[in-house]
Amino acid sequence: MDMIDPFGRAITYLRVSVTDRCDFRCVYCMAEDMAFLPRKDLLSLEELDRLCTVFIEKGVRKLRLTGGEPLVRKNIMHLVRELSRHLRSGALEELTLTTNGSQLWRFAGELADAGVRRINVSLDTLDPEKFHAITRWGHLDKVMAGIDAAQQAGLGIKINAVALRGFNDMELPDILRWAHGRGMDMTVIETMPMGEIDADRTDQYLPLSVLRAQLERQFTLTDIPFRTGGPARYVEVAETGGRLGFITPMTHNFCESCNRVRLTCTGTLYMCLGQEDAADLRAPLRASEGNELLSAAIDEAIGRKPKGHDFIIDRRTNRPSVSRHMSVTGG
Ligand code: GTP
Ligand code: 5AD
Ligand code: SF4
Repeated sequence: MDMIDPFGRAITYLRVSVTDRCDFRCVYCMAEDMAFLPRKDLLSLEELDRLCTVFIEKGVRKLRLTGGEPLVRKNIMHLVRELSRHLRSGALEELTLTTNGSQLWRFAGELADAGVRRINVSLDTLDPEKFHAITRWGHLDKVMAGIDAAQQAGLGIKINAVALRGFNDMELPDILRWAHGRGMDMTVIETMPMGEIDADRTDQYLPLSVLRAQLERQFTLTDIPFRTGGPARYVEVAETGGRLGFITPMTHNFCESCNRVRLTCTGTLYMCLGQEDAADLRAPLRASEGNELLSAAIDEAIGRKPKGHDFIIDRRTNRPSVSRHMSVTGG
């Protein structure tokens, strides 16, 4: 019954992009004028629930809602509350989300009540002006209020920062001290070439091997076996007592231990973040009331999960490796 791909990898982690819309326009993620999906193409919350439930029956143990920004999807808490039945039944180990934090001040309490224990908040700088520059539309004070609310509600937090040369590389040690000082984990992420953006990724790209060497001038980093089921490899930082994870799709490919697939808000399943191939699950979902067709379509899709991505960032390859934007699949 479990989903095993052609390379023997068990698929236990489903990332669900509940909307492609976002209330930010991060420069490395989106172009300023993005065309979003027409609302009529969206799966309903009931359909998303049904799809997730079939995946859970087929062995998914960890479910993460992403976007766009998941908390801007209308009535999203209804879906979270419905999905939380799988936590109570023990079928699901973790129900969580990755958010830009802008709406957390409103939803933190309800998320905790629904059984969410830990969330990931994307935050690339602590400088209000730089924050506004990188997100184009975001306000840092809103996100800070959201982080406060989440901690008050008892949610664990991991801060995600995309490492961007010349933008936040000098500031990352301060962000690390701030995150660990507040009892939060942190991960740094290599920028991936997904979708046409207005900026030049070659200028922005900072290999984390370089960042790690820079951090080691100030901090003592010790590799630790701590794992979350995500792609980060963690170190413990002696000076802060906190955990720092490195997500290195470019310099160190972690595809061989990939355990995840991605579902979009239109019911498209991407078997790899870094490949164009996808499977339509909306047609089999809508074709019958029972789940046999859907289950067969999922098996067929998992049967073509590729070995890994082919991301490259260099001056000669001056176009994205994958044409869709990150906001389609939420990472
Ligand atoms: P944890 O459960 O806390 O480990 O979270 P996570 O790292 O699984 O999820 P998160 O949404 O915080 O993702 C952090 C970054 O990792 C994002 O930029 C994702 O795009 C990237 N990422 C997650 N999974 C993959 C993957 O399979 N391939 C690649 N290339 N990047 C991934
Ligand atoms: N490369 C790497 N990470 C990205 N994110 C968005 N776009 C990119 C990109 N091109 C990150 C966000 C968020 C996570 C889901 O993906 O900052 O933390
Ligand atoms: Fe929105 Fe996240 Fe993309 Fe920023 S990175 S524009 S917050 S989806």
